[in-house]
Amino acid sequence: MERALAQHAKGAMLMGVDFLPVAKKARASVEVEVKESRGPSPDTLRVPTAPQRGEAPDKRAALDDLKRRHDAECAHCTTAPPFTQTVFGDGDPDAALMFIGEAPGAEEDKQGIPFVGRAGEKLNDMIRAMGLKREDVYIANILKARPPNNATPTPDEAERCGVWLTEQIRIIRPKVIVTLGKPAANYMLKNRDSMTSMRGTWHEYADGDLRIPIMPTFHPAYLLRAYTPENRKKVWSDLQQAMTKVSG
Ligand code: URA
Repeated sequence: MERALAQHAKGAMLMGVDFLPVAKKARASVEVEVKESRGPSPDTLRVPTAPQRGEAPDKRAALDDLKRRHDAECAHCTTAPPFTQTVFGDGDPDAALMFIGEAPGAEEDKQGIPFVGRAGEKLNDMIRAMGLKREDVYIANILKARPPNNATPTPDEAERCGVWLTEQIRIIRPKVIVTLGKPAANYMLKNRDSMTSMRGTWHEYADGDLRIPIMPTFHPAYLLRAYTPENRKKVWSDLQQAMTKVSG
């Protein structure tokens, strides 16, 4: 798995393509036999899932139950200005890799799914470039209800809705988290640091005995606004580091 991903990444870089969608052939090469570090026998995995991560017998059911409780009880969403529906999360509840963004936008509010607008298309490109499919990862936001005018979540809003994100992470127990943009990184790392100082280096999310490496990177919406070779290279480098960690 690691070698295939490294080769894919190297090829993409050599071609000067930052978000290269994986061609059929390259994707097939990711489907290799890997030996889980704690598993008894080799297993064919397309996406590595950390063994023994799952504590809930049925993570999907646990997430569905959490969403129901969130929608009824969230201190932020039950008092937020009008929105169409909550946007709780999307993807594989047993994913090794989780992306965390800021808050739903107009399209997400309409569909009830995170990252389905223009920023979502860019995020899909990023995921494909990593040799993965969107269904292989889990995607969530700090806020589950669309803020009016797509305003950046205030620290108070983030705290009130963020406790539900904490619960989501406890269920999913991803091996690696990639935060998208400054608000998500600041919330997860409980700091006010700049993107420049955070991105590209590993941080740690700590919640009780749960320790998860976090790689902050630019928000895909920022990337759309500033789609420079330099920024694309930075994001690609962050994603490569994340994939290496997921595969390790
Ligand atoms: N931006 C985000 O941070 N989250 C979404 O779901 C969509 C856009």
